[in-house]
Amino acid sequence: MEDREALLEDARAQIDAAADADAVKAVERAFTGKKGSVSALMAKIPTLPPEERKAFGQSVNELKRAIQAHVQARLDALAAAELASDREASDFDPTLPPPRPQRGSLHPITQVTRELEDLFESMGYEVLDGPEVELDFYNFEALNIPADHPARDSQDTFFCDEAGHLVMRTHTSPGQVRAMERLEPPFRIVVPGKCFRQETTDATHDHTFHQMEGLVVAKDVSVAHLIGAMKTLLAGIFERELDVRMRPGFFPFVEPGFELDARCPFCEDGCSVCKQTTWIELLPCGLVHPNVLRAGGLDPEEWSGFAFGLGLSRLVMLREEIDDIRHMLSGNVRFLEQF
Ligand code: FA5
Repeated sequence: MEDREALLEDARAQIDAAADADAVKAVERAFTGKKGSVSALMAKIPTLPPEERKAFGQSVNELKRAIQAHVQARLDALAAAELASDREASDFDPTLPPPRPQRGSLHPITQVTRELEDLFESMGYEVLDGPEVELDFYNFEALNIPADHPARDSQDTFFCDEAGHLVMRTHTSPGQVRAMERLEPPFRIVVPGKCFRQETTDATHDHTFHQMEGLVVAKDVSVAHLIGAMKTLLAGIFERELDVRMRPGFFPFVEPGFELDARCPFCEDGCSVCKQTTWIELLPCGLVHPNVLRAGGLDPEEWSGFAFGLGLSRLVMLREEIDDIRHMLSGNVRFLEQF
């Protein structure tokens, strides 16, 4: 018993003499750590007569608790002393307001999405939402992309169930068929949202990115309507008229399908953004394929439409001069603070 009392006394004296928190912790380790004096006492237990072991073990445990309590008391006292000396220091001013909470800001993708939603609403479009985990039917089948169709290769999917009926949507186009099922034509809609692809990522490709789908269903819709709407859209985004050109583009859910390029808004005779061509690829689009209208429950003899798929993430990169798409969803506060 005496050895334990002496040990406790010694520990208390050393703890009281320790000048700061690190020193207190070092003393604590020397006594209660794996190779400390308390552990050495514990190691003695098997050498004692069996009837003494229990009482000895209990008293060593008490000793350990007493040392830990003294350590905590010393740490509290040191912290209180530090605070008091801070307060007494000449530059401590208790009347100053506390530091302000940091203010966040809207993500650049959210900002552009909201701007575009306002623009489309002013043009008579309704904004719809669609599920990010989608049925294979809406993501592919109803869009004229049957199983085994080679177009599935360019939109490699994350499957959510073994049978492959549930997928992370690879584009916002499933919103087209869902809208046809829900709304009475004629109608105009946009569907902004997140898309997911099994991609090898690089500066312009991420596995998670944003698109905004547009769909207009009415009678006798033509390519002229499509071009007119796209020019209005681009003028709204870039705040001036831009020349556009259409190239043929293949998407199974439109016929004819186009890639719409706009004159580079940043230069007149070539720059790094347009890769010296003065054109930038902006909008895949086309007239809705009759099979898609049928899948959405509409009669292609009666109704027609145009659709487009705006790459929102790429648009934000272009507008804000962001050189790598992977910054966008990195969650890096230093990147986000700029917007
Ligand atoms: C589509 O996704 C079609 N659904 C677009 C469409 C809609 C065509 C309606 C016709 C009618 P595409 O795979 O090309 O098409 O993607 C469209 C846009 O999404 C691209 O131009 C690009 O801006 C963006 N995009 C595609 N993949 C990625 C990616 N991995 N990272 C970032 N943006 C991407």
